[in-house]
Order: sequence, then C-alpha cells, then structure tokens
Amino acid sequence: MPTEKTLNDLFLDTLKDILFAEKQILKALPKMARAAQSEEAKAGFLQHRDETQGQIERLEQVFGLVGKPARGKTCEAIQGIISEGEEIMEEYKGTAALDAGLISSAQAVEHYEIARYGTLKSWAAQLGLDEAVALLDANLQEEIATDQKLTALGEAAANPKASRQAAE
Ligand SMILES: [Fe+2]
Ligand SMILES: [Fe+2]
Repeated sequence: MPTEKTLNDLFLDTLKDILFAEKQILKALPKMARAAQSEEAKAGFLQHRDETQGQIERLEQVFGLVGKPARGKTCEAIQGIISEGEEIMEEYKGTAALDAGLISSAQAVEHYEIARYGTLKSWAAQLGLDEAVALLDANLQEEIATDQKLTALGEAAANPKASRQAAE
C-alpha cells in the first residue's frame, strides 16, 4: 500500500511550488521593467523585484521552520503565465497597448501568488505553524498591495489620454 500523504506533505509541496515560482518571477520582473514604456510601470516592476527578493528570504525561513531544505519544484502554471507575458512583449513591442498588456500579465502573476499564499497561510494555521503564518501573511499582503497598484497603473495605461500624458 502506498504511504498515505498528509496535509504536511501538501504544505511542503506547495511551498516548493511557490519558491520555484518566486525565483522565476525574480528573473522576469527586470525584463518587464526594461520592456515597459511608462516610467511608473518600470519603477513598479523594479520595486516588486526587490520585494520578491525579500519574499524568497521569508520562504527560506519557512522551510527552516519545518526543518526542510529550501528547494523549489517546477511550477508549470507560472511558466505558462510568464511565457504569455513574453509573447505580449514580442507581439506588442512599440505599440500603445504594450504597457496595458504587460500590466495584465503581471496581474495574472499576482493572482497566482495570492491564491498560493492564501492557501499556504491557512494550512500553516491548521498545522499550528504560527511563525510560518506570519511570514506567509507578509508575502500575501505584499502581493495584494502590488495587485492594487497594478490595477491603478492598468487603468492609466489603458486610458489613451492618461498614457499620452505619461509620455509627455
Ligand atoms: Fe511574490
Ligand atoms: Fe508578486
């Protein structure tokens, strides 16, 4: 009989998934900053790159709390979301719609992260890992704040008058 998997296993597997995802995001954000046309979008992507570095460090602490090595596990979902973003960079290069497209990709990333951190946080609570709850919540709150900033940036980028003003 196969050994029965527990919520502990699921927690660890999902932690590995988000560690892998954050490392991919860390590499993608500077590319998105280079591609973006507006200064606000560029600055936003770079700021979140720095936050992402801190999030990876918090995840490493969570691995430490459960006594496991901080090792990622391939996350196909984030690879798919990032490659769609790369497609937008190529296909919309030099167009007025580029930033709106980049921001929409970034929001898909944030929503993936929010889903993961929300789940991990509630599992950590069920497992009685109070310190992990605090660390995961810190990451979750940064993702939520980033998503809200992106909504505001996206509204400006999708509004031709606002993006013209931003370019002046
Ligand atoms: Fe993140
Ligand atoms: Fe994020």
